[in-house]
Amino acid sequence: MSSSTVAAEPLLTATSEAVAREAQAGLTANPKTLSPWLFYDEAGSRLFEQITQLPEYYLTRTERGIFTTYADDIIRHAAASDLASSPALTLIELGAGTATKTGILLAAAVRQQGSIVYQPVDVSESALAEASENILANIPGVTVRCQVADYTREPLPLDRLPNTRTLALYIGSSIGNFSPTDAVDVLSNLRDQLQPGDVLLLGTDLAPGPHKTTADLLAAYDDASGTTAAFNLNVLTRLNRDLGANFNIAAFGHKAIWNPTESRIEMHLESLRPQTVTIPATATTPKLTLHFRQGETIHTENSHKFSPAAISSLLSQSRFATSQTWHDPNHLFAVTLATAL
Ligand code: AVJ
Repeated sequence: MSSSTVAAEPLLTATSEAVAREAQAGLTANPKTLSPWLFYDEAGSRLFEQITQLPEYYLTRTERGIFTTYADDIIRHAAASDLASSPALTLIELGAGTATKTGILLAAAVRQQGSIVYQPVDVSESALAEASENILANIPGVTVRCQVADYTREPLPLDRLPNTRTLALYIGSSIGNFSPTDAVDVLSNLRDQLQPGDVLLLGTDLAPGPHKTTADLLAAYDDASGTTAAFNLNVLTRLNRDLGANFNIAAFGHKAIWNPTESRIEMHLESLRPQTVTIPATATTPKLTLHFRQGETIHTENSHKFSPAAISSLLSQSRFATSQTWHDPNHLFAVTLATAL
């Protein structure tokens, strides 16, 4: 996906074929599933931005608060203690999106080392354009090099300058979408592309504790305004648009569940009555006729919630050593710095 010279039409075709393959694999499985990357078409990305501003969705504002309070400390630790002899940091961000929280860390890096090279990586070219526009306008001293790529499938476009240390950012609890084994794969792939001594800053949402009930967690994924419901249901709208499917959106309901065994929030789309849905054939997938029982669900997302031990274990299995963790006062969210071994 790093080629932006490809004409618009083949690119669109390739994307809908990927959507078709995902629908074919997930909706013929038992139980039915769809992968969360399908959420993020243009409407879905907009809905996610709205979610981050909901009163119930504490994750984004809590992580931003941690950055606001500790950015200088985080950058100092990432660069190691003695600035005079330590190499300058270069920052790369996986799944940067519009990078609204990253500016806080970039500003701290510029304060400490005068300038910084920032390399955001994302599948969304429009999000990266917005990210670089905002950063260039607001934080002098940052050089932005955008890369359109899917970091889960392609090697990172790491552009290493001599005598620099790479700080990889993987924030927003994006890692929580992966199963524990896939999460180790994602971080191990990242580790393979770093050098010993490079650092990772990982943002993770935490499991329920004294200041976080399961009701709080459920509210964050089933808000009063219905924005998360719209975000979840939008995946069916996308299948109708991209594949010509005939999902009746009104015949499905949003459902969020806390799964304590797996320590995760699950999002599902529940069929409100028995029904049949068809998805036309594409160049690479056959026509699908899907039957739904009343109450049957499509599992659309897992959002894992971590204990401190689970974070350290994930990092050590991926050949990183945990070096420092920052929290908000209520321990809702954690930001962990780890060194590549
Ligand atoms: C972007 C994966 C961190 O799991 O909280 C928000 C996505 N889903 N509301 C999350 C999401 C429903 C979000 N992540």
